[in-house]
Amino acid sequence: MTDNIEKPQQITFDVTDRCQLRCITCSKWKTVASDVISKELTTEEWKKVMLDLRNWLGEGMWFCFSGGEPFLRQDIFELADYAHSIGFKVASMTNAFSIQHLYEKIIDSPIESLNISLNAINNPTVHDFSRGREGSYEKVIDAIMTLKKLKEEKGKSLGINIATIVFPENVEEVIPLVEFVTKNKINGIMFQLLDDKESFHGYNYQKGCNTMGYRMPKELRTQYSNMSKRMIEVVDRLTEMKQAGHSIYNSYEQLHAMKIFFDNPDDILKEIKCDVGSTNYAIDPYGDVRLCFNMYPVGNIKENTPEEIWNSTKSQTCRMMTKTCKMYCRMLNCNFKGNFANFNKSFIHRLKNKALKVLSGNP
Ligand SMILES: C[S@@+](CC[C@H](N)C(=O)[O-])C[C@H]1O[C@@H](n2cnc3c(N)ncnc32)[C@H](O)[C@@H]1O
Ligand code: SF4
Ligand code: SF4
Repeated sequence: MTDNIEKPQQITFDVTDRCQLRCITCSKWKTVASDVISKELTTEEWKKVMLDLRNWLGEGMWFCFSGGEPFLRQDIFELADYAHSIGFKVASMTNAFSIQHLYEKIIDSPIESLNISLNAINNPTVHDFSRGREGSYEKVIDAIMTLKKLKEEKGKSLGINIATIVFPENVEEVIPLVEFVTKNKINGIMFQLLDDKESFHGYNYQKGCNTMGYRMPKELRTQYSNMSKRMIEVVDRLTEMKQAGHSIYNSYEQLHAMKIFFDNPDDILKEIKCDVGSTNYAIDPYGDVRLCFNMYPVGNIKENTPEEIWNSTKSQTCRMMTKTCKMYCRMLNCNFKGNFANFNKSFIHRLKNKALKVLSGNP
């Protein structure tokens, strides 16, 4: 049973649920390392998935390593090397907490786009509070600045991007973060709306939110209403800054959706359809594949090829469910163009435009 669905456009490898931080927004850190480590896909199993995906989707596709904290996997560079050798373009997310000894390796690796989570710039305690561990801020800033210096010294092109969630305590950090990115010539920044922390669950024992008849938790609704008035002003300012050339990766469409959302979260359910069912392909640490991270797996790559799973009856049913879903995680970046894996591409596109203007004498 197929309905001419296109091929996936956003591929994520959640290579581990393990994490050393304790973010207040996320539940993945509840994963106990010793419970899961032997269940995770092996290096060879990941390589096989990559090859199958490449044979199906062709060369030049982006994918993103995420998790959990992907750099906790000892074989992360081997996986990146392999992906590159068969024609993939590699991005990765990181909390930058334990990568200090890996800076050189990251710069020399084929990872083209590194997306570093940072939730505040002026107030380190806000970042540390959100990440649940003191000293996180210092390490993230060190990672951003040192990687940037190293890449310049070595003439490498690694895209260094910042990923920020917006929540009540960091609303006043949003504009300073953009200014920091521009002042320090960081490639760009992408904002993500705070979502239910159960959406960000470890796949070993948690199922995520119940999408059927979902009710937004009272605490989350209060958080949104506490920040809504100021966020509408901040989003207007972000739109102006983007128009003025600041490197904000969220599309105008997504910024507009944020305004609708902050005006009344329920309106967004009518305005925006969630498209993850026809674009997203996320493989969890144990090989289970999901189109939507809150819904059931549509298959496991140890049992079927990625293409068989994409075209399976389970996937078709899941796609139908995504179309009637009433959850607010449709506001997350995975449902909008300009996603993390595309960071570098859009940056290069803008650079090309700039260069063309200069060449035409019209900078
Ligand atoms: C789940 S983490 C995995 C990668 C890595 N551990 C990190 O934190 O960058 C991916 C992204 O999700 C964000 N995130 C965590 N909890 C969230 C929530 N409740 N709503 C929206 N984004 C969230 C994180 O800040 C991070 O940028
Ligand atoms: S958001 Fe990232 S760093 Fe924070 S607990 Fe979740 S996986 Fe770990
Ligand atoms: S809104 Fe989209 S991502 Fe969120 S649960 Fe529904 S289908 Fe999944």
